[in-house]
Amino acid sequence: MRKNFGPKPLLYPQPVFIVAAYDENGKANAMNAAWGGVADSDKIMICISPGHKTTKNIFLKNEFTVSMGTADQVVACDYVGVESGNNVPDKMEKAGFHTTKAEFVDAPLIDELPMALECKLLSYDNEEHILIAQVVNVNADESVLNEEGKVDIAKLRPIAFDAMNYAYVTLGEKVGNAFSDGKKLK
Ligand SMILES: Cc1cc2nc3c(=O)[nH]c(=O)nc-3n(C[C@H](O)[C@H](O)[C@H](O)COP(=O)(O)O)c2cc1C
Repeated sequence: MRKNFGPKPLLYPQPVFIVAAYDENGKANAMNAAWGGVADSDKIMICISPGHKTTKNIFLKNEFTVSMGTADQVVACDYVGVESGNNVPDKMEKAGFHTTKAEFVDAPLIDELPMALECKLLSYDNEEHILIAQVVNVNADESVLNEEGKVDIAKLRPIAFDAMNYAYVTLGEKVGNAFSDGKKLK
């Protein structure tokens, strides 16, 4: 017997993006966004409400970063999702986040989150609140790379949002080889 949960966008895994941008004074702010994903080979999408401080900053600069939320920083990642820079100007300090300007966009990288996408705003739908962004670079701190120089998911420990249970879970255990294992059944 299957149980029905109704018409909800419940997916596994749902990434935890920490979206960050500068305001008009160059002050960084960030928010949690779990309603997002891949939009094309070089684009991502986020369903983002227009009233957030981060959204206003994105519209101001047209540039922002998207860091992967991590298990090591789960409290700070959740905090930036339950507090607004509209009300708390020192939100980043309270989160314990420090920032460095990204290399390819005028937007902050969060030092405590070792992998990020540097993005430019391409479009925003005022009715659906869907933002599409061009990814202009991906960067990752050396501390989360494997011997081949690629991101080691076991070191990064990215988190996913479990929307049914309102929980964060880690991703990491390798269970197969993509575009490869299925060939055994061809
Ligand atoms: C797990 C989680 C996921 C969230 N996902 C989104 C999202 O995808 N889009 C959105 O507009 N807000 C989302 N939020 C809410 C914002 O992160 C929240 O309103 C935040 O306070 C906005 O901060 P700001 O006003 O400083 O930018 C999420 C919050 C949490 C805790």
